[in-house]
Amino acid sequence: MRKIIIAGNWKMNKTFSETDDFLFEITDYLRGKDLGNVEVVICPPFLYIEMGSDFANESNIYIGAQNVSNHESGAFTGEVSAPMLRSMDIDYCIIGHSERRKYYQESDELVNQKLKILLDYDIIPIVCVGETLEQREKGITEEIVINQLNRAFKDIEINDNVVIAYEPVWAIGTGKTATPQQAQEIQCLIRDWLIENYSKEVADQTPILYGGSMKPENIKELLLQPDIDGGLVGGASLDIEKFTKMIEIATELG
Ligand code: PGA
Repeated sequence: MRKIIIAGNWKMNKTFSETDDFLFEITDYLRGKDLGNVEVVICPPFLYIEMGSDFANESNIYIGAQNVSNHESGAFTGEVSAPMLRSMDIDYCIIGHSERRKYYQESDELVNQKLKILLDYDIIPIVCVGETLEQREKGITEEIVINQLNRAFKDIEINDNVVIAYEPVWAIGTGKTATPQQAQEIQCLIRDWLIENYSKEVADQTPILYGGSMKPENIKELLLQPDIDGGLVGGASLDIEKFTKMIEIATELG
C-alpha cells in the first residue's frame, strides 16, 4: 500500500521556543498512536533542523528541509548541502517550491540538479510542480506540469524514493483550494506521466501530495481522491490543533 504523507511546510515561521513547543506537543500527541500507512513530516527552517532531528529520533515524526544546495560543498555562502542534511539524519527535502521559483529564480534545471544530489545522499525529495492562475486561465495547466516534470526528472532514475507535490500556485496561501476534482485531474496526469516515463511499479509506489490551502475542513474530500496521497501543508501546519486534526483525519481514512 502507498504511503500517505502529511507534510508541514513551515516556510519562514516560528522562533526557537515556538518550534520547541510545537515539536513537544506533536510528539506528545503522536506517542503510542498507530498511524497505519500515514507518515508525518515536518519541514522547519534550517536553524531548527537539529532540534527536529532530536525529536524525530525519539518519536514517529520525520523531518524535512525546505531547500538544499545543488552543490556538494565549497564556497557557496549561506547554502546548506545534501551531505550536511544526511549527516543530521534528515529524511526529506522540498525542492522546486513555487516560492523558491518565484523569489529565488529556481529553474527546472536547478531543481533537476537538486533532485540528483538528494538521491545521491538518500534523502527523499518532495518535488513541487504547479501552474499559476494565468496559466490555468490560458488552459495550459497540463502542459506546464508535464514540462516541469520532464525537466526536473531529466536523466534521473527513480524507484520508490521520490515524492511529488502538485501545488497550484493560485491556491498557495490564498485560502483558495483546488476542488478535489481539479486536483485529482492533474494528480492522475502526474501518475500517468510516471507510468510512461518510469513504470507502473514506480507510479504505484510514488506518493503524490496536494498542496494549496489544505486544512482540516477540506482534507477529507481531497484525500478521498484516488491519486491524492497526502498533503504538503503550509499555513495550517503552523497550528498544532489544525495539524493534528489533519493527521487524525488522514489516519482514519488510512
Ligand atoms: P498553504 O501552503 O497550505 O499555506 O497554501 C502550501 C505550500 O506552499 O506548500
